[in-house]
Amino acid sequence: MRTGPTITSYLCDLLKRAIHCIIKVIKERCNQILRNMEASLTARDRVGIQDFVLLDTYTSESAFLDNLRKRFHENLIYTYIGTLLVSVNPYKELDIYSKKQMDTYMGVNFFELPPHIYALADNVFRSMQSEFNNHFILISGESGAGKTEASKKILQFYAVSCPSTKLLNNVRDRLLLSNPVLEAFGNAKTLKNDNSSRFGKYMDIQFDHQGGAVGGHILSYLLEKSRVVHQNHGERNFHIFYQLVEGGEEDLLRWLGLERNCQRYRYLVQGDCAKVRSINDKSDWNTVQKALSVIEFGESDIEHLFGIIASVLHLGNIKFEADVRGYASLNNNQEMHWLLGIPTQVLQQGLTHRKIEAKTEEVFSPFSVDHAVYARDALAKAIYGRTFNWLVNKINESLVNKDSSRKTVIGLLDIYGFEVFNVNSFEQFCINYCNEKLQQLFIQLTLKSEQEEYEMEGIEWEPVPFFNNKIICDLVEEKHRGIISLLDEECLRPGEATDLTFLEKMEEKISGHPHFVTHKLADQKTRKTLERGDFRLLHYAGEVTYCVVGFLDKNNDLLYRNGKEVMRQSKNAIIKHCFPSTEPDSKRRPETVVTQFKSSLVSLTEILMSKEPWYVRCIKPNEAKQPGRFDDVLVRHQMKYLGLMEHLRVRRAGFAYRRKYEIFLQRYKPLCPETWPNWKGTAAEGVQCLIKHLGYKPNEYKMGRTKIFIRHPSTLFATEDAFQVCKHKLATSIQAKYKGYRAKGDYLKQREAATKIETCWRGLLARKEREKRAWAAICVLICYRFIKGFMTRNQPVCVDNSEYLAYVRQNYLTRLRDNLPKTVMEKDSWLTPPPIMQEASQLLKKLYIRHMVRKYVQGITPQRKAQLLLKAQTSSMFKGKKENYPFSVCRPFMDTRIGKTAELLSLRTGDALGSFHHPLQCFSYSVPVVKYDRNGFRPRLRQLIFTQEAAYLVEDAKIKQRIDYISLKGNEESNTHGDLVLQCDYLFEALTKLSLIGNQQNSIKVVQGSVRFDIQPGREGFVDFKSGQESMVYRAKNGHLMVVSSSKHHDKTMPNYY
Ligand SMILES: Nc1ncnc2c1ncn2[C@@H]1O[C@H](COP(=O)(O)OP(=O)(O)OP(=O)(O)O)[C@@H](O)[C@H]1O
Ligand SMILES: [Mg+2]
Repeated sequence: MRTGPTITSYLCDLLKRAIHCIIKVIKERCNQILRNMEASLTARDRVGIQDFVLLDTYTSESAFLDNLRKRFHENLIYTYIGTLLVSVNPYKELDIYSKKQMDTYMGVNFFELPPHIYALADNVFRSMQSEFNNHFILISGESGAGKTEASKKILQFYAVSCPSTKLLNNVRDRLLLSNPVLEAFGNAKTLKNDNSSRFGKYMDIQFDHQGGAVGGHILSYLLEKSRVVHQNHGERNFHIFYQLVEGGEEDLLRWLGLERNCQRYRYLVQGDCAKVRSINDKSDWNTVQKALSVIEFGESDIEHLFGIIASVLHLGNIKFEADVRGYASLNNNQEMHWLLGIPTQVLQQGLTHRKIEAKTEEVFSPFSVDHAVYARDALAKAIYGRTFNWLVNKINESLVNKDSSRKTVIGLLDIYGFEVFNVNSFEQFCINYCNEKLQQLFIQLTLKSEQEEYEMEGIEWEPVPFFNNKIICDLVEEKHRGIISLLDEECLRPGEATDLTFLEKMEEKISGHPHFVTHKLADQKTRKTLERGDFRLLHYAGEVTYCVVGFLDKNNDLLYRNGKEVMRQSKNAIIKHCFPSTEPDSKRRPETVVTQFKSSLVSLTEILMSKEPWYVRCIKPNEAKQPGRFDDVLVRHQMKYLGLMEHLRVRRAGFAYRRKYEIFLQRYKPLCPETWPNWKGTAAEGVQCLIKHLGYKPNEYKMGRTKIFIRHPSTLFATEDAFQVCKHKLATSIQAKYKGYRAKGDYLKQREAATKIETCWRGLLARKEREKRAWAAICVLICYRFIKGFMTRNQPVCVDNSEYLAYVRQNYLTRLRDNLPKTVMEKDSWLTPPPIMQEASQLLKKLYIRHMVRKYVQGITPQRKAQLLLKAQTSSMFKGKKENYPFSVCRPFMDTRIGKTAELLSLRTGDALGSFHHPLQCFSYSVPVVKYDRNGFRPRLRQLIFTQEAAYLVEDAKIKQRIDYISLKGNEESNTHGDLVLQCDYLFEALTKLSLIGNQQNSIKVVQGSVRFDIQPGREGFVDFKSGQESMVYRAKNGHLMVVSSSKHHDKTMPNYY
């Protein structure tokens, strides 16, 4: 029973602590949320507005730019337009990507914290988890704006925030490390960016339904292969070449026939900047090596891969010379030796001849030097391009998720941004076309979702005029009439097709298109800005002038047929894999580059359309890659072509602000007494009540099904400002309420405790009282029965008195037991019995006395018995006759009273008594006496000795007189010799002895007053007796012998016998 309260109190304590902890966490969380929500709305003046949607002058580019600039200078690089994230490249490391930051943003709603790439990543992840659907994040922006960095940050966030197991960690590491490998092979230093991605990348991260990253898949788009063979001034080839030359181990370089000197390789020096300060090729090499091993590249894979990279470098160094006929020839080219294990002869022919198939024959036509150089470069580009594809596939193999259960994915699209150079070529055309397509997708998805939201919420939709770039997309991709079709036509048609014929064809087919112009078609003013070989497209993002030179070649990307055949003879496994013998031969022309690209964009669009879109728009603040520099013109331009203003317009077309009723009410309910602290009805009703109280005008807001829509930011800010004022009052009142609540809680606890104690105490008292009463009742009953019993005690045994009588009996017996007489003599002290015990008592007494007597008798000695017999004799003689007899009873009798005298007597009389048959040797009793002589009663000391025969009077062992027993008569008859007057102190003893020894019981008489005796025959004397103060015997004046006996000497009283 005692453990009960202990366990309960322990559990209570535990519960209390748990609740305390939860309250603390919730409080902290609430505080944090409030802080950040406040931050988002209250800090609007100092650090601009966190969400452009709240910008009052939302149509103003300048206001937009101002806000962006203001925030940029405060290192606030992220700003929202609704759920779109605008990111401005800070060109410096900011302390906002730590693990702590990731934790802060994990599981937090979009607008609760300042804008961040992690907030977006987390919300995408949580939407995917809760809706179990697929999403993608489109990261766009121009080269160097920070797309790749943004995608890496997102990947890192997932790597940290997603659940982890050993298996998942493995996938996570591969996903993360696929980046440095792809960057090494696909990125290069350009004028715009030291780490520019020269391919488009779409990466799917696959999640299981617990949110674990279980796999991934990468799609790459249009690698800029031309960079392998040519780089503009100030640009580099792909990083991997420099990494190998700078970082490769000595043995490896020797094995690959390379020197540690980039200047030795023609493909690496055209840009004249092999060394870049911001790039550490050596350490990047190590990173790539590690990454390759994690992504499970085998040793042979790695060997073959770097064999290819080295071969490309060697290929670049191959020089052709013109022979006498002007054909290209290869002399003393040592590089041949290192090229992919292809027999030199085969390679030599492959590089200097072209195979022509003529009906049944195959003819080898020699190249001119220029052709040979072209063929060499084409081969280098093909080798590198195909190897890059192999690499992507290989990474995909390692990321593949073997579990077939349904997954959800988040796609990351890090694709090249809109590019405008001084001279724009085929690549820029493709890239800008890609951006045009993505913009179209963006418009569609944005408008669609906006439209859907208004429809869902039942809000009237007011269409926003926006620029639809469909017209440009059509201009590029329309069948038969589009630029791509015309380009392909030119590439494929027989005859002398050149870049210029392509230009003419365009001028012919699409002249008059509002977004297309050439030197020929332009008005005078425009013509001045165009070269003859240029055409200009008016993209959604602005005008771009393309130089038509190289379009056909790059689109054809022709690798002469025998070039492929040569490659098939390589011993390098990757090359063999990249140039399979099953490849369709040249009879069927392969698809042109631009057509392939178009198809891949179509499939990309399909992929993206099936997913929920999220956007990150990256902006480059300056061309100089400098931190803290914000170039208004540059940024304004990007704002425009990234469609930010349009997006904002769409978002703001209807309403600047929308929030779920619950969230809106939660924040602003303190502003209305009816909604504070708790609103009982639905959230929508609560909001309605709240805004009525706040005085919103009907045109300022709309109530949707689940959200409130506020038209102007100023309305919201006014509400927010009111909230800020109210907040402090609220805090005080909450504090007071809370304190009151705590105090009340304490009071209730104390009261409960007091009641408990009181109850226990009362219970205790009541129990005691009950016990007392019960006891009193018993007592009363007992008393009643006792009294009744007492009253009827003398009646025959009945119900009323039986108990009482039993008690009386028991009580008497108990008392009797404790008070039994100790000796027979005390028999009169027998406890007086109650009436009912009279008979029993008598019987008991009798029994007990008999028992005592028996015990006494059993314990008596023979001597004692003899003594008692003597005493009995004495009693028969003297009891009641002699006054002082009773006093003698207690004095025991002795055999002799003479003691030593007897010895002496025996010694002295030994001889003398011989003649008396030794009378004293066998005397029966002796006692000292005083004899009063007959003449004058003079006292004489004598010993009186009784033997069996006679009594003797002896003086100093001399027998003075023998008295025969028979001479003792006991009457007053005169004796012949006269009577003998003796005084004895032990009268009863002596006389008893005499009576027994001499058998003289009858001779003993007790006489009162005076005794007459014969002094001599005929002469009488008298003995008078009287009582006095002192015992004495003397001769009285009358001549009598006076015996005065005192009560002190009763037993010594003079015998009155003679
Ligand atoms: N968030 C950031 N914090 C710090 N520096 C950044 C950030 N984003 C980008 N940078 C800097 O800008 C450089 C260019 O960024 P990034 O490579 O991501 O550009 P990009 O948009 O991918 O360009 P490209 O289209 O050429 O590939 C990075 O190397 C880095 O130095
Ligand atoms: Mg990039």
